[in-house]
Amino acid sequence: MQIIILENPEQVAKNATQWISELFSKRTHPILGLATGSTPINLYQELVKSYQQEKLDFSKVTTFNLDEYHNIAPENAQSYRTFMKENLFDRVNIDQENTHLPTCNNEQNPRWQGLAYEEKIKQAGGIDLQILGIGGNGHIGFNEPTSSLSSRTRLKTLTEQTLVDNSRLFNADEYQPTMAMTMGIATILDAKHVILMATGKNKAKAIKEMITGPVTAMCPASALQMHENAIILLDEEAASELPNQQYFQRVDSEHQKIRDKYGLFL
Ligand code: GLP
Repeated sequence: MQIIILENPEQVAKNATQWISELFSKRTHPILGLATGSTPINLYQELVKSYQQEKLDFSKVTTFNLDEYHNIAPENAQSYRTFMKENLFDRVNIDQENTHLPTCNNEQNPRWQGLAYEEKIKQAGGIDLQILGIGGNGHIGFNEPTSSLSSRTRLKTLTEQTLVDNSRLFNADEYQPTMAMTMGIATILDAKHVILMATGKNKAKAIKEMITGPVTAMCPASALQMHENAIILLDEEAASELPNQQYFQRVDSEHQKIRDKYGLFL
């Protein structure tokens, strides 16, 4: 894991943008894994800004989102498709045909839908860079605690904590789905690089468990300890419960010299 501690959420978004920009410059057809939630909103704003300044071209980019609510119409205001359109897809020159989310409605077999999503990722050549947030309970995507570390795209029932955490995004008269299709932990680990972004005090405990705790299904993000190229972008608040912060800062400044000389990706 490369732990990078930055001053604030804006710096986290800017840093993630640099990785994405370099990916776009190195790959003719970049495959990007995307996340929803409030954490990546700053990142999407930065990406849109870079596109407007003609620094980023999305015309050859394919995207795969981590998750989508079960049985939700794409045009529903609460769908992750709508979130992605509003925050990114409708604001850059991406071909919407090349944007994918793991959907499943009541009429579809979730097992088949999961397999089909995995196959689509494989056919595209695999994910070059997967963006991740983290839930307060350590979930990634919607892989709730106790998710199998070998899991693949499937239907998950959301925990009470996740439902409560996410209820802030629903109006009183809106139905809040209790299940979601999500990439599995093994699907996420297959991505060539992953960037997990976390900001704010409410993520500090999950971040500590992810980095310094055991690899356990009780903290699904801890599976990233097994990933060869996991970059963890934290603001000071999210990093606040980490021991050895000075060590992480020192490692990062050494790594920065290598990144400056040789770039971010091979
Ligand atoms: C949701 C998403 C996750 C996201 C997490 C944290 O449940 N499924 O992909 O990382 O919540 O969201 P936020 O960034 O809003 O804290």
